[in-house]
Parts: sequence; structure tokens; C-alpha cells
Amino acid sequence: MTDDVIIRPLLPADVDVADAVAWAALAPLWPEEFRPVNDERRLARGRARVAHLQRTDPGGCWVAELDGTIVGTALSLIREDVWGFSLFGVAPDHHGKGVGSKVFAPALAYGDGTRGGIILSSEHPAAMRRYALAGFRLLPCVSAAGVLDRRALPAGPQARPGDLQDEEDVATCDRASRFVRGASHAGDLERYLEFGGELLVVPGRGFVVHFEGAPALLAATDDEAATDLLWSAFGAAPPGGSVHVDFITAGNDWVIAACLRARLALSTDGPVFVRGHIGPLAPYLPSGAYL
Ligand SMILES: CC(C)(COP(=O)(O)OP(=O)(O)OC[C@H]1O[C@@H](n2cnc3c(N)ncnc32)[C@H](O)[C@@H]1OP(=O)(O)O)[C@@H](O)C(=O)NCCC(=O)NCCS
Repeated sequence: MTDDVIIRPLLPADVDVADAVAWAALAPLWPEEFRPVNDERRLARGRARVAHLQRTDPGGCWVAELDGTIVGTALSLIREDVWGFSLFGVAPDHHGKGVGSKVFAPALAYGDGTRGGIILSSEHPAAMRRYALAGFRLLPCVSAAGVLDRRALPAGPQARPGDLQDEEDVATCDRASRFVRGASHAGDLERYLEFGGELLVVPGRGFVVHFEGAPALLAATDDEAATDLLWSAFGAAPPGGSVHVDFITAGNDWVIAACLRARLALSTDGPVFVRGHIGPLAPYLPSGAYL
């Protein structure tokens, strides 16, 4: 059946379908209480992510087509010589037939020769198999989730709202991202902010983007600033609402300490896979979309 599958670059006209296929593949993996509702907002955000990567990395974005219908999506990006795998999904009816492997291959090849690579994996056995066999090192992860105990919020965090029009704030983002993973996130942050993400910075030391208290991306140059940013994000959570912190790798004990103090519960999460030289990956909470 995979002989009939055509692998081709993702084109601007494919954005909506490619997002829908990836969503159909990935949505069942989210715990129900944290799964975004597939409403207009989710659609707009998902499509904006696919369209953004198609623009920035046309050579890294691929689809699998069967009988004229897209059945698989694989999106990768390169930022300052670091390759990242952003989105990977095959329509559930077509799992386990080699479609994923076929569409993964050119997205992976896009990163050939780069200094390093990073993938935030799901716990799907086919995904983990593909990444490990492609030569990536597996870093085990935990996540933390639950209703925040607001009594634990520390007084007087130093983080303040950031502004992507402010050169100093952008320089803070560049510096922190390059410190943790060897490449800036600054060119991707707007995609979060236009869909309700809030940017907070500790000037010169780090930044976080969060959605209602849940960090989507955090990078800092020291644990103290990172902890401050995490608590500042938590402080923005709606009273009584739950928050989640995903892809916490070893070496980020500052996250564990804060999450336990906030009375969030730890559980296992999909591993992170890395290759090459990409920095300490700490203090860092990577972005699923932009790594
Ligand atoms: C992960 C995913 C994209 C892989 O696509 P796929 O078409 O199902 O995968 P393939 O058929 O190409 O299989 C890939 C490899 O895993 C193996 N495999 C497939 N399904 C498996 C399973 N359920 N258990 C164990 N191994 C499995 C295959 O044998 C193949 O290995 P091989 O080529 O060495 O024999 C797809 O299953 C999917 O969309 N899953 C849900 C979303 C997800 O987890 N995405 C990854 C995000 S990081």
C-alpha cells in the first residue's frame, strides 16, 4: 500500500488539510482534560503554525498523499543550524503501513549537515522507533499537571511583560534560547502571541511564553531567573484552573521543585530525542511547535 503513496513538499494550499491530518493523529494522545477543543481558535492556531513553517522552511515540510488525499504530515525547521521536528502525524486509518516512515525521511534529510537536532516525541511506539533508529539520543521526560495551589505563589517575581518590538527584550530571548539550545526562538514567538500567548521576560536572563499559566516555551541563562519566570506564568493561571508543564528533561530540577511546591502531579511524558551539539537543554522548557 505504501507504493501508492506520493511524498511531496507541503504547499500553501495544503495548510488546512495538513493541519487536520496532524490533529486527527495527535488529538487522541492528549489527556482529555488538557486536550484543546477543536474550535475556531484551535484551527486558526494550528493552521498558522503549519503556514508559518511552510514559509520559513519550505524544504522541511512534507506531506504524504494517497489517491489525491493527504494522509500524512511531517514538518521540520532549521534555526541557526539547529534542526527541529515540529509536527508528525498520519491519519489514524493509515497507521502502521509505512506512511509515517516515508514522509519522515525527507523532513529528516532537510537537517543533514546541521549542528544538532531536537524532537519532542509522543509516546507512540512507531514515532520513538523512527527517531531512535535515525540516530537520536533518548532523553526521558516527565510532565507536571494539576490545579495550582495558589498559596505557593512567591511574592514579588521579577518577570515583566515582554514586547517583541523592544530590541532589549528580543535580545533577551535570543540570548536565553542560544544558551539552552544553541539557536534563537525570536522569529517564531509572534505565532504564539497572536493566539493569546503572553511573553514575560527577566531582562538579560530569560523569557517564557505561557497560555493561561501553562508554559509553552521557557528559556533562561540561570535557574533563578527560570524559576521566577515559571512562577510568574503560574501566577497568570485562572483561579481554580489547571496548568500543565510538559517535556521536563533531566537537568531541569528547578522545574520539578516549583511544580511540586505548586502541588502539581508528576507523570511520565514522551521522551525528547537529540543529536549533535545543541547546548545544555537547561534551564529550558522546549516548545512543541518551535522546539
Ligand atoms: C507516529 C506516526 C506518525 C508513525 O506513522 P506510521 O505510518 O504509523 O508508522 P510506520 O508504519 O511508518 O512505522 C514506523 C516504524 O514503527 C513500527 N511500528 C509501527 N506501528 C507500531 C506499533 N504500534 N508498535 C510498534 N512499532 C510500530 C514500524 O514497523 C516501523 O518500523 P520499521 O520500519 O523499522 O519496521 C503515526 O503512527 C501517528 O500519527 N501516530 C499518532 C501521532 C504521533 O504520535 N505522532 C508523533 C508525534 S512526535
